[in-house]
Amino acid sequence: MNALDLFCGCGGLSLGFEKAGVNVIMGIDSWQDAVKTFNFNHKNSKGICRDLSKITPEDIDNELHGQTIDIIIGGPPCQGFSIAGKRVIDDDRNKLYKNFVKFVAYYKPKAFVLENVPNILSIGNGIVKDSIIKDFSDLGYSVQYKVLMASDYGTPQNRRRAIFVGLQKGKFEFPEKMVEKYTTSFEALSDLPENSVEDGDEYPTKPLSDYQKLIRSGCHKLYNHQVTEHNAKTVEIISMVPDGGNYKDLPKELQNTRRVHIAWTRLNSQKPSFTIDTGHRHHFHYKFNRIPTVRESARIQSFPDEFIFLGTKTSQYKQVGNAVPPLLAQAIAVKLLKYL
Ligand SMILES: C[S@@+](CC[C@H](N)C(=O)[O-])C[C@H]1O[C@@H](n2cnc3c(N)ncnc32)[C@H](O)[C@@H]1O
Repeated sequence: MNALDLFCGCGGLSLGFEKAGVNVIMGIDSWQDAVKTFNFNHKNSKGICRDLSKITPEDIDNELHGQTIDIIIGGPPCQGFSIAGKRVIDDDRNKLYKNFVKFVAYYKPKAFVLENVPNILSIGNGIVKDSIIKDFSDLGYSVQYKVLMASDYGTPQNRRRAIFVGLQKGKFEFPEKMVEKYTTSFEALSDLPENSVEDGDEYPTKPLSDYQKLIRSGCHKLYNHQVTEHNAKTVEIISMVPDGGNYKDLPKELQNTRRVHIAWTRLNSQKPSFTIDTGHRHHFHYKFNRIPTVRESARIQSFPDEFIFLGTKTSQYKQVGNAVPPLLAQAIAVKLLKYL
């Protein structure tokens, strides 16, 4: 099965599909750094840097060299849908989503998978969700949707994502929860050291959990584990927050030092992580007085250690934080292949 990944980013969604045996032949994204990471890690695919608000499916036909597209996957950023009464208006804000629809209309894949934030289902009392279902039903797809929780599929993170799956034939049923016990932050990170490791150096310890064995997957070298040096005040404040705690654990006079409700939050070593951010520096390691490294964030997202992030550190955090957890994507892909 050949797939095309629209808005591919660094390729978390693609990776899950590849692990399930899908041949992701191309990824498209307008962000140069993410495309570089995509190409570096998806050797059998081709990431191209294009603005999807400006190109049409015909524009990439040449680059596909006649290969068929069986599945279209992707998470178009939906900055906001403009709504009038009971319908979604066609305007610039939902242009990216509309282009996803155009690609599906043009290539007529056997299936598509559209990923988005959970509140896409509730905007305008469900008008956007209904409009998505209608757009694809009009193209002949039977569309199912569900909010899936990444930790139910082995990812050490409570990240929820709305997934729409359309099939030309059959009616998709989403994969059931796959784990009996959630993977914790401790199981995900405990073999990674407090201090920086030079890219390509060996791991300082053996894997300490089944998850670590899985995520190392034969990899012997560590990349993207450079720690962020915080100023003395930040270290002093975060050192007062216990494992799993937050700003409420601080003395009263320090509780408002950062004016966001997620401030001074530590991972809970005994639970899956909360949804990681894209590098805002409010979430800290459960034990160390620093934010997680890019590698630790990637572990929380279930990227294998052999997946290497390129670009500046800020860019790497954003690529990781934007991604669909590969293990979640894999669970969807495995189920989807049963229908194709
Ligand atoms: C949520 S991220 C996708 C993450 C990806 N599915 C993954 O699993 O790694 C959304 C992506 O849309 C891309 N994007 C935003 N506007 C775009 C545009 N006009 N054309 C192409 N890509 C765009 C961003 O650069 C970003 O990488």
